[in-house]
Amino acid sequence: MPDNTVTGRRISTSVLVIGTGGSGLRAAIELSERGVDVLAVGKRPKNDAHTSLAAGGINAALATMDAEDSWQQHAADTIQESYFLANPHTAEIVTKNAGRGIQDLERWGMPFAREADGRISQRYFGAHKYRRTAFAGDYTGLEIQRTLVARAAQLEVPILDSVYITRILVRDNVVFGAYGFDLRDGSRVTIIADAVIIAAGGHNRIWRRTSSRRDENTGDSFKLAVDAGGRLRDAELVQFHPSGILEPENAAGTLISEAARGEGGVLRNVLGERFMANYDPERMELSTRDRVALAAYTEIKEGRGTAKGGVLLDISHLPRETIMTRLPRVYQTMLELQVLDVTTTAIEIAPTAHYSMGGVWVRPDDHSTDVVGMYAIGEASSGLHGANRLGGNSLIELLVFGRIVGQAAAEYSAGITSQNRSQEAIDAAEREVTDTLASDGEENVRALQRDIRNTMTDFGGVVRDEAGLLEGLRELDELDDRQKRIGVHPDVAGFSGLAHAFDLRASLMAARATLACALERRESRGAHNRSDYPDMDPALQVNLVWSADGSIAHEQIPPVPAQIAALMENVSQAGKLLE
Ligand code: FUM
Repeated sequence: MPDNTVTGRRISTSVLVIGTGGSGLRAAIELSERGVDVLAVGKRPKNDAHTSLAAGGINAALATMDAEDSWQQHAADTIQESYFLANPHTAEIVTKNAGRGIQDLERWGMPFAREADGRISQRYFGAHKYRRTAFAGDYTGLEIQRTLVARAAQLEVPILDSVYITRILVRDNVVFGAYGFDLRDGSRVTIIADAVIIAAGGHNRIWRRTSSRRDENTGDSFKLAVDAGGRLRDAELVQFHPSGILEPENAAGTLISEAARGEGGVLRNVLGERFMANYDPERMELSTRDRVALAAYTEIKEGRGTAKGGVLLDISHLPRETIMTRLPRVYQTMLELQVLDVTTTAIEIAPTAHYSMGGVWVRPDDHSTDVVGMYAIGEASSGLHGANRLGGNSLIELLVFGRIVGQAAAEYSAGITSQNRSQEAIDAAEREVTDTLASDGEENVRALQRDIRNTMTDFGGVVRDEAGLLEGLRELDELDDRQKRIGVHPDVAGFSGLAHAFDLRASLMAARATLACALERRESRGAHNRSDYPDMDPALQVNLVWSADGSIAHEQIPPVPAQIAALMENVSQAGKLLE
């Protein structure tokens, strides 16, 4: 008798989307609107995908508040604040198409905040020349996710909410589907598809203090892509958001939106000093994230932090009405998690790992990868953010490239005349799950995940140096040995333990790529601070591309088009470093 759990289901579709957050849903909508057969799969309920946590806003040069704004200025700000590691072509595509992204959302019912005359409101976010961040209170991501889920439902896009993908299936460097299992009962799922879009997020959950929840952003996108034959770009460039809360322990790192500073919140050290005056006196709290995070880190490190190891973000001077209408989530979060009333009391915060600015290597035009038929989008991808992401750019990127990649995958699928599959690849994927499930070692997956977070926090955090990075890589070797002796024990509650084992392997790989590239980037640039190399090195104005064999290539970045370069203003770096 065949074992039905292992044989499982076999599903065929034209395009498979892995991930049901904003980017995955946007791509699936595009495919469906084009009449292409599409299936989206995710490892958590779609209404609760990570996009729903995105808070303060989404950028587009709509010029509703500041008539001088333009897509060119948005591109200039994005490239300049990326410390020139953003691909100018990617920046141009996103900023030029941003208005269309917002219009799509409006058409599908997104409740943007509006001025009295009906214009979409836009607020300041750090280091934007103009007010170009549209929002829905500070629940912008949640409203976008709701809007996309509703649109996908209208189109009857099939979504499987409980499938964990373990392998992308490839033959001769061409994709033909993916393999995984159902988190509820462990039954196997083989999905045959012409094209596969990876939209399963980044790797910022591998730090101790992070704005991601348990089991999201564990690096699974990176592992799936690399195992299939792809590469990673700029894995070391991880954004630490300045304002993560410190307590309670199990929610450490939960985000207090940059919108709090955009609306006029101020930062103080324990002495009551507005310390940004020492780091970026012109832009103060609305400096770039890398600089505000580094400033907070420095204040804490040099002993001007609170007893618990934070600095203070104060919005209590803002009108109560502003807080309730424009920062409702900040208000609610602090009440729920700390019983703290932000209308009267400052919030203790410290930098929190927030966003993977690097990711799967993709081409700027259509986010195709090294593997034919495989694409990556959203936080899984790379190219837009360089060494410092502007707040609000990730939400617009996922809409713009969700649409473009949906179109590219549709065209690719329509253009192929045959598909070669490999039973060997399917069998290998099946064996991998079976073997993992049979693991009965003494090592605990959760403990190993915690150890990775400790290693990354100790050696790959806001400030890094060679000795620490080497020690971090050594610890990862040890963890890699230990993960060979894990125990996996599903029970009546389901197969999440099996998923954690795959997450663990993904996190180890993402951690290794991060530390190796951080070692290679012997300079300080944006969010990557090397205390042993405190200056930017012009020779390292390149993207670092990591391959499965551990090699790292230096990839040149095309020149910035003249019309965009002309809009860049010299921003003083005085006060930037430290130690
Ligand atoms: O602070 C925030 O609201 C985060 C926004 C973003 O990361 O884009």
